[in-house]
Amino acid sequence: MTEEDFIARAYPKTIESDAVSCIAPSNIALVKYWGKYGEQLPENASVSFTLSNCHTKTTLSFQKKESEGFEFSVFLDDLPAPAFEPKILKFFERIEQYVPFLNKFSFTIHTSNSFPHSSGIASSASGMGALALCLVRMEQQMDPQMDHAYATRKASFLARLGSGSASRSIEGPLVVWGKHAKIEGSSNLFGVPYPYTIHPVFQNFQDTILLVDKGEKQVSSTLGHDLMHGHPFARQRFEKANANLSALIPVLETGDLSEFIQIVESEALSLHAMMMTSRPYFILMKPNTLEIINRIWAFRKRSGTSVCFTLDAGANVHVLYPIAEKEKIQTFIEDELTVYCKDGAFIIDQTGSGALPL
Ligand code: DP6
Repeated sequence: MTEEDFIARAYPKTIESDAVSCIAPSNIALVKYWGKYGEQLPENASVSFTLSNCHTKTTLSFQKKESEGFEFSVFLDDLPAPAFEPKILKFFERIEQYVPFLNKFSFTIHTSNSFPHSSGIASSASGMGALALCLVRMEQQMDPQMDHAYATRKASFLARLGSGSASRSIEGPLVVWGKHAKIEGSSNLFGVPYPYTIHPVFQNFQDTILLVDKGEKQVSSTLGHDLMHGHPFARQRFEKANANLSALIPVLETGDLSEFIQIVESEALSLHAMMMTSRPYFILMKPNTLEIINRIWAFRKRSGTSVCFTLDAGANVHVLYPIAEKEKIQTFIEDELTVYCKDGAFIIDQTGSGALPL
């Protein structure tokens, strides 16, 4: 499919006013997206577990209007949130050609996250995922015959234009975004469910998110992706990420947890290595991030379990483990790792199936 396929044709029905609500989860990348070009196109393919408990709920109310131009207001937890308006305006500008009704309505967007705004967990994937799905639901009211598979794909396509990683929050439990020679049906334009065999050990995989630093992000992802332009190791990084995704295919099929751990942890550290070696350079890990990583390594060695970690563009640690090890690992986390979290805070999550209308 190409961009053209997402340009709306004439709608058979007209609508005046209504509201649609959707819920979309966050996701955690195993192979990271870091570096983009053109209109939100990824430099390498990435794959993520769709999460379940970390999610955004959004209600989009709309009312037909006469005047031209975009008109919308945003509320977070029922309070006006003008700080989100520039990002949403940019999103609307990017997607207008695909949802041409945008400037014909006045919108009110009510949104809330299941995780605290200050947790340092990026809400852009779940937030843009939920808003994109709301817009597609609205479009479906004007085009009731729209095919479900197409609608899902369009939601991911639009979500990508809001935030790249949001393209991976529409479906689950494992989603690939970015054209990859070995992943059939993969595209730079939208996320697709991982199309090959997934070993049962990866079903209901657990992710406990340790909140090391709850502050605002030190580096916005937009700036972070920009740092990859002219980065001395950019090409090698993009090639390595694609190679890591290739290497994951047999691992996901056979359930080879020790190889899984090597790939996932190395991806997390490579992401941070890119930030440490860009100009300007950043260290986003905190001393407690390193404490946690070292304790995970020591525990894995002495317990023979398959616990591992991954990181986002921040200090928080995602602790990943199979559901069969849940009791052991949660005891370990509570006994040994929560002391390194800000106010002892962590979020227990696991893989999920993606965004849904409410
Ligand atoms: C480190 O999707 O937040 O989480 O497209 O600029 O909105 P934008 O970036 P964003 O980048 C996420 C980067 C990451 C890795 C990943 O999720 O793959």
